[in-house]
Amino acid sequence: MILTLRDLTSAIQALKDEFASDSRPSEQKYSTYLGKKGKFNELVGALKTLLPENRKDAGKMLNELKAWLNEKLPEMMASKTEGKLPVDPTIPGIDLHVGHVHPVTHAMHEITQIFERIGFTRVRYPEVDGDYYVFEALNMPKNHPARDEWETFFVDVPIDKKVGKIVLSTHTSNGQVREMERLGSTPPIRMINIARVYRRQSDVTHTPMFHQFEGLVIDKGINIQHLKGTIDHFAREFYGAGARSRIRPFHFMFTEPSFEVDFSCTICDGTGKLANGEKCKFCKSGWHEVGGAGMVHPNVLRAGGIDPDMYTGFAFGWGIERTYTLRPGLHIDDIRMLYNGDLRLLEQF
Ligand code: FA5
Repeated sequence: MILTLRDLTSAIQALKDEFASDSRPSEQKYSTYLGKKGKFNELVGALKTLLPENRKDAGKMLNELKAWLNEKLPEMMASKTEGKLPVDPTIPGIDLHVGHVHPVTHAMHEITQIFERIGFTRVRYPEVDGDYYVFEALNMPKNHPARDEWETFFVDVPIDKKVGKIVLSTHTSNGQVREMERLGSTPPIRMINIARVYRRQSDVTHTPMFHQFEGLVIDKGINIQHLKGTIDHFAREFYGAGARSRIRPFHFMFTEPSFEVDFSCTICDGTGKLANGEKCKFCKSGWHEVGGAGMVHPNVLRAGGIDPDMYTGFAFGWGIERTYTLRPGLHIDDIRMLYNGDLRLLEQF
């Protein structure tokens, strides 16, 4: 309690001493001494305990104290008047972490561009689709043993009248007949369909969810040379000028003839041997299998309303993860690593 001018003088001196020995940053000092509930306003509040005849002098003393405090805290006062905190442009900025897309997303963009440059159009079709588009329209009738190759997830919902049982699509080939229907069954068709697909598999070369890209070309006079030329073009664009491809006879219900597609190993240049004569451990044979391909089966063309006597076409479907991890320098020996969210791996891309 301040009853006399002498009390006030001592209180002012005590405040000044405290201020001088206070080593905190100006911002904190400002609120302690000049803030709304600060020590200066406490003294102002104490004026009422003084005798009325002393209040004028006391007011003067407090004005002087305020001027002294303002002088000691000039930056804070300036910022007060402008209504914002002071800006020091010399303080280093906050280093923001810049992320990047997942390597598989990056591969998808690259693959899309490679095919768009040669006239393909990227399309997207359902990843949860009807049995009709995933199997039946692709020449795989109900209960046909060829379906056993695909370890399918069926969705527990009522059977759709038009497309049958609902499944998580096992391949991007479900887009083939959908694309024919979209274009009103009128070729030419040049589509690239990229999507997630699902299978009941999990090991070093298989994940339950993965991505495929499906090419489909239909026109008059399309033959295997067009298929092989397109595959070779992709190999050179994606793996580099020296990359080669080969096709081996295989069987798919929806293509005839059918092939498996291999790309030459980028480590040993397709020879199977390293420069020091040792066997290439990456490929073991000089080649890597990436997926299937073939000439579109006449029954599939018919399902899409296209006359197989007038038009022919080729199709291919490859796993993106498989295709991508064969790139030189990646050395991903378990593709499940791409999806376990470990930043130590993802930040290397
Ligand atoms: C198919 O899925 C056919 N639809 C491909 C096709 C399209 C053939 C058009 C003819 C014409 P397949 O089941 O072999 O084929 O799978 C193709 C590729 O997908 C495989 O070579 C592999 O690269 C990738 N793949 C398959 N299963 C998995 C999996 N569980 N995890 C990761 N990649 C996989």
